[in-house]
Amino acid sequence: MKILVTGGAGFIGGNFVHHMVNKYPDYQIVNLDLLTYAGNLETLKPVEDKPNYKFVKGDIADEPFIMDLFEKEKFDIVVNFAAESHVDRSITDPGIFVQTNVMGTRVLLDAARNMA
Ligand SMILES: NC(=O)c1ccc[n+]([C@@H]2O[C@H](COP(=O)([O-])OP(=O)(O)OC[C@H]3O[C@@H](n4cnc5c(N)ncnc54)[C@H](O)[C@@H]3O)[C@@H](O)[C@H]2O)c1
Repeated sequence: MKILVTGGAGFIGGNFVHHMVNKYPDYQIVNLDLLTYAGNLETLKPVEDKPNYKFVKGDIADEPFIMDLFEKEKFDIVVNFAAESHVDRSITDPGIFVQTNVMGTRVLLDAARNMA
């Protein structure tokens, strides 16, 4: 089983990555994160050398990149935690929220549908 976890360097995604990597050693966990101001790979140090874990830096809204990644990795499951999540920032800069949270989710859904 190969699982794509997006936003795995963030708060919720990071906890999910720890849980999955440790609880399911037979599953391959691929963490895709753009490492925005909210992303922090330090919290993933305890799992970074595990054989069932891999980090990929990238943007969920980058359609060619995501399509290539899905083609190459052939994920069984996608769990999307990649997001602009801080509400106060959405007031000063709403564009990036639409880009990541709406367009990025659409790209992931299309990529998953193409693989089905
Ligand atoms: N934190 C909470 O209490 C909570 C509660 C309920 C739901 N959620 C939801 O869970 C999701 C994650 O929340 P969080 O608190 O972990 O957020 P977070 O801001 O801590 O983490 C978001 C992660 O997404 C990454 N990211 C941002 N844009 C990206 C992009 N374009 N491509 C790839 N990676 C990108 C960031 O680098 C970061 O690592 C959000 O959808 C949020 O609304 C959070």
